[in-house]
Amino acid sequence: MAHDLSSVRADFPVLAELIDGKPLVYLDSANTSQKPHAVIDAMSCFLEHSYGPTNRSAYRLAADATDAYEGARVKVARFVNAAKPHEIVFTKNATESLNLVARAWGSTNLSSGDAIVLTHMEHHANIVPWQMMAAERGFEIRWVPLTADGLLDLTDLDRLLDGAKALSFTAMSNVLGTINPVRELCAAAHAHGAIAVVDGCQSVPHMPTDVREWDADFVAFSSHKMVGPSGIGLLWGRESLLESMPPFLGGGSMISDVRLDGFECAELPAKFEAGTQPIVEAVGLGAAVDYLSALGMDNVRAHEVALTVEALDKLKGRFGDDIEIHGSPDASVRGATISFAFRDVHPHDVSQVLDQHNVCVRAGHHCAKPLMRLLGANATVRASFYLYNTSDEIDTLCDALGETAEFFSA
Ligand code: ALA
Repeated sequence: MAHDLSSVRADFPVLAELIDGKPLVYLDSANTSQKPHAVIDAMSCFLEHSYGPTNRSAYRLAADATDAYEGARVKVARFVNAAKPHEIVFTKNATESLNLVARAWGSTNLSSGDAIVLTHMEHHANIVPWQMMAAERGFEIRWVPLTADGLLDLTDLDRLLDGAKALSFTAMSNVLGTINPVRELCAAAHAHGAIAVVDGCQSVPHMPTDVREWDADFVAFSSHKMVGPSGIGLLWGRESLLESMPPFLGGGSMISDVRLDGFECAELPAKFEAGTQPIVEAVGLGAAVDYLSALGMDNVRAHEVALTVEALDKLKGRFGDDIEIHGSPDASVRGATISFAFRDVHPHDVSQVLDQHNVCVRAGHHCAKPLMRLLGANATVRASFYLYNTSDEIDTLCDALGETAEFFSA
């Protein structure tokens, strides 16, 4: 393994919990990740000693809280190699980040006769905001199809991008685990005069991210999937685009002036941060970024590749045709998110039996119904691994699935 796993596991208090005397096997990190002491302690310490308003008051406590909040922005900017901290906008979650792009960028750039391109593997958060805008403004949505292996089929990409204004796609599928060629897709979008919007929710927590190397225009991601708290999301945007867009939400903090006849926006990033922000969550996110940076994102990725290879081998080796694993069998093009069908047992039933062994997996459509339709399924079971998961937990998953098979044969 690429990092000291027992010391990493000791950092996450919930992993030491026993339920009915048995350990917890948390395989739902694509949904939301667990939190290390460093994050929990940073938030409680800030709440106990330093909590105050940001950017509004002149007293010392408020200045320190503002420094902590803005310090988190600097950390995130470094983590994804943004050119400037003010290109990082704090939102409520990645869904809000994508809605911000669709609405604020879309309202000045998309109208009837225009087109945007999405892919068949998108999460609803990267579909519905665009559909809502399309219903208002009458532009076309085109779709990149998938190969049988669950990769993007880029054969017709040039045709799809012809005349399009945006290509919005996930860097890694939350169902198939497919890692998309982000840099190539951004270049293709730009070659056609379109912007590139990247949903980085499933990739940023799991591998190094360099928004400048990608040459993307917007990247949305969330804190809670990268060992940080829920309640805060992120949008990185190219400065010139963020400058040119109207605000998303109106209210306090996002203005430089308000008169009876109108308002002027504040500078970036305040322009997109209306109202009181998730201050404590930003502090926790900063600690999460420190934690991941200390581990090294290359190490995180290496650990997850090893787990993926082992999990795919063991699941297929043990269950053969009883299991259908969706997506590519090649761990070099996929993350450690493994969706599958198990015999003809309903995914919710599988997850209930697994729960009796404290194995936590997600069963459902994973907020990706168009992809589910393509897979011919209403739902899948999804086991998703992260930096704290172990080989032994793969064995526990397999054993629990073995019991599921027995239970439903009886
Ligand atoms: N989008 C998250 C998931 O895939 C919630 O589980």
